[in-house]
Amino acid sequence: MKPIREYLKEISQQNESDQTVEIHSFKGFSEAEKKHYADRHITVYAGKVRELIRTEKELLIYHTDRLSAFDRYVGLVPYKGTMLAAISDYWLKAAAAIVPTHLIDRPHERVLRCIPCTPFKVEVIVRGYMAGSMARAYQKGIREFCGVHLPEGLEAYHQLPAPIITPTTKAAAYEHDEDASPEQLIAQGVCTAQEWQEIARMAVALFKFGQEKYLEKGWILVDTKYEFGRDAEGKIRVIDEIHTPDSSRLWVEKTYSHQLARGESPEMLDKEIVRRYLMDQGFSGHGTVPRVPVSKLIALAETYLKVAETLIGRDLMSEGPLQHAPEIALH
Ligand SMILES: Nc1ncnc2c1ncn2[C@@H]1O[C@H](COP(=O)(O)OP(=O)(O)O)[C@@H](O)[C@H]1O
Ligand SMILES: [Mg+2]
Repeated sequence: MKPIREYLKEISQQNESDQTVEIHSFKGFSEAEKKHYADRHITVYAGKVRELIRTEKELLIYHTDRLSAFDRYVGLVPYKGTMLAAISDYWLKAAAAIVPTHLIDRPHERVLRCIPCTPFKVEVIVRGYMAGSMARAYQKGIREFCGVHLPEGLEAYHQLPAPIITPTTKAAAYEHDEDASPEQLIAQGVCTAQEWQEIARMAVALFKFGQEKYLEKGWILVDTKYEFGRDAEGKIRVIDEIHTPDSSRLWVEKTYSHQLARGESPEMLDKEIVRRYLMDQGFSGHGTVPRVPVSKLIALAETYLKVAETLIGRDLMSEGPLQHAPEIALH
């Protein structure tokens, strides 16, 4: 076990080649590993970032180092999976005090063992600030967001009058998600009105909790995405990951006002580094994905590391390069 910071330093010193990044990154299950499970009639599902093994009693979520942006695969970020698993573990444990979560335990640095649920096919996005796709749409004159009407005069990067929920219906892997109002979700049979009430209540409570806790660490939780599901007993739980840099925007609180006063964007602690780079190359989700330089990928890894280490309060350790999925005993 060695601090992840040291592995990242080693990669930077080795000319930051794509090959070095590859050696240090966990890409996901190999074909042989997938076959191993398929032969045993165990379901393996490959998400954009994580891979799942599902049995009746448990769901193992394997965190790979794949990076997705604009719903596309853009490259590998060494040790991102370990960092994300640590951040998810931290938040899901903390959130258990306010809502039912799906977390059971973390049997390996990259794996979370969870309660399998039937997901509601909706990404519940909660926004506290004018940012991202909403800021771009607002600038174009759009005022209606998923059934919420926003007033005139809101400025990019500023806080919204109150947090709002902008749900999107969950599309298949690498497809773009679609905005929907709660009425549309209910009409489409994604959930009932009563279920939506419960989901929205939990999302708002989680967001408040996340904002408060992140602020104690000096960061603003700008917006985030939650997923919910029903377990075998019918209980609604928050599933997936919560408050991670993959599912959220985070800004530095200390410099926020100063940056805005200077007409600059806030200091960001999330995937925005890579998103910005891709946008500067003229990419916003369509066509060939530009190659992201290794220095950008390492900078992103360092951002994730900072978030993880600040939350857990100590150096984040890793067993090192992992080319094969760890074997976790299934219950
Ligand atoms: N407890 C759970 N039960 C069932 N599915 C879950 C649970 N937690 C997370 N998931 C699903 O696991 C997947 C996580 O992998 P990810 O790489 O994010 O995939 P995606 O490409 O679908 O976003 C998501 O599709 C999410 O809905
Ligand atoms: Mg996902």
